[in-house]
Amino acid sequence: MTGLRGVGKTVLLNELAERARQDGWIVGKVEADRSQGGRPFREQVSQTLNRALREAMGSSQIADKFRRALATFKSFSLRTDPNGGLAIGIEIDPERGRADTGSLQTDLTDLGIDLAAAAADRGAGAALFIDEMQDLTEEELAAVCQACHEAGQREAQFYVVGAGLPSLPGVLAEARSYAERLFDYWPIGALAAGDASDALTRPAAEVDVEWQGAAVDAVVERSAGYPYFLQEFGKATWDFALGPSITGDDAHAGIRAGTDSLDHGFFRSRWERATPGERDYMKAMAADGDGPSQSGEVARRLGRKSTAVGPTRAQLIYKGLVYAPEHGVIAFTVPGMADFITRQPT
Ligand SMILES: Nc1ncnc2c1ncn2[C@@H]1O[C@H](COP(=O)(O)OP(=O)(O)O)[C@@H](O)[C@H]1O
Ligand SMILES: [Mg+2]
Repeated sequence: MTGLRGVGKTVLLNELAERARQDGWIVGKVEADRSQGGRPFREQVSQTLNRALREAMGSSQIADKFRRALATFKSFSLRTDPNGGLAIGIEIDPERGRADTGSLQTDLTDLGIDLAAAAADRGAGAALFIDEMQDLTEEELAAVCQACHEAGQREAQFYVVGAGLPSLPGVLAEARSYAERLFDYWPIGALAAGDASDALTRPAAEVDVEWQGAAVDAVVERSAGYPYFLQEFGKATWDFALGPSITGDDAHAGIRAGTDSLDHGFFRSRWERATPGERDYMKAMAADGDGPSQSGEVARRLGRKSTAVGPTRAQLIYKGLVYAPEHGVIAFTVPGMADFITRQPT
């Protein structure tokens, strides 16, 4: 799933993972986010699967294939933590020669295939959910592709479900040229007006509160269907309303308060993560509204050469504030950022 920040990718990813769990799948979930100084992928995979496997162990007798998956998992995790801290609770000898080469590509493939075999015994599959997937390193992306590719060839039910910025298909294709055919891509954008309106009215209806038409229309329009904005404006409107129903006036007050809260939180925190030089770069981008902008044109507006502003651009990408939808193009990762920037005092 690809899309800007705040469209609901993480919510969807969690929902899918939860449903897979309920269906008895072996499920792991990790977050690649580099800007948060996250832990290495292999370590995170070990940690999330440790939990999933211990849960699965409790629920039934350990069949041969499951025992083998546990042993392969143990090899995999010992490779990232030789002290065995990530294999706690899995009292089984590691499987020699499985998932222990130290090459993530080989090891993740072994692990995926053995997990799938264990899950298949229970009429299910194995899935690894990866959030902020565009932040994986090239080696990690290549390993994910390789594991999925081989699992597919052997008809093993091992899947990777990822969520990331719209740059994700591009970085995957760079890691492995066959990535484009390997995955299904679902672009996630703003909600359609009807869905946006349901997001406001349905939870309220559950507690017998009605949104008047004018109130719904105002919030849906101002949020442009972006789930995160719906959430902010909806919450502020709810907090303001005296009831019994939610009126257009409540919505206008809520939108004002919500905009204020976005400006001071969501947008401001992004703005403050940028250095003065990076802010100048984003100001030059903001001339194109929500964008995207041509990188060359942004440099020209700054009166600099593209190569001279390259490091600034790279830092902004690293911080997750902008991304490159395609080569030579640059865009904000959140809707409305350009508008916020133009409202800043210079
Ligand atoms: N389908 C939805 N309907 C209403 N609100 C949603 C929906 N999906 C997400 N949200 C709201 O938007 C916020 C951001 O969603 P999130 O999944 O974190 O976005 P992303 O991962 O794409 O940045 C959530 O905390 C929630 O408040
Ligand atoms: Mg997210």
